[in-house]
Amino acid sequence: MDSHKRLLLANKAWVQEKINLAPNFFLDLAKEQKPEFLWIGCSDSRVPAEEVTGTQPGEIFSHRNIANLVNHTDVNLHSVLSFAVDHLKVNHIIVCGHYGCGGVKAALSQQRYGILDEWLRQIKDTYYLHQDEVEAMGDFNRQADKLVELNIHEQLRNLMKTKIIQKAWIEEKRPMLHGWVYDVKDGLLKSLYTIEPGTPLHEVYQFEF
Ligand code: CO
Repeated sequence: MDSHKRLLLANKAWVQEKINLAPNFFLDLAKEQKPEFLWIGCSDSRVPAEEVTGTQPGEIFSHRNIANLVNHTDVNLHSVLSFAVDHLKVNHIIVCGHYGCGGVKAALSQQRYGILDEWLRQIKDTYYLHQDEVEAMGDFNRQADKLVELNIHEQLRNLMKTKIIQKAWIEEKRPMLHGWVYDVKDGLLKSLYTIEPGTPLHEVYQFEF
């Protein structure tokens, strides 16, 4: 069988399974979405948000890109962020990176990967900011995993720098920001950082409202 046909068949089985458990599952979901979480994760096929968190359709609004970056020029990310925060009113934003991330490894190396090099540039900047901490880890893979963690923290800071988050923090004391890391070797998620609404940022990043 063509491999893509397997997916369509599996979909039919999945629909049946859902309906067997709850006959109105899709009818209820079709009315509206009220997700509690925005997930900003890596595109890596090994880190599917719903599967690793045991969540159902309707629970997680998500955005994924290579190396889970919050890039200030990314209109796609900012549209997702604005819709999630301003309209869906999510209470939590989870930036989830993962150990063994190919994007972070690429950024730590000197190899060229085409357009991807520009996308990953900010990870090189994060390395540059924390060079001693990364190099103290020893071999390349351990250095890359430290950089995975630092990159997650940097993306939380990038979220704090957006007007979308600053406004929601002032007006509605939400959302809480979470930095999680997933280990592809054992399937476990670990919470590394939690940032409460109202946490100060250097004033140069702070807008007046
Ligand atoms: Co990755």
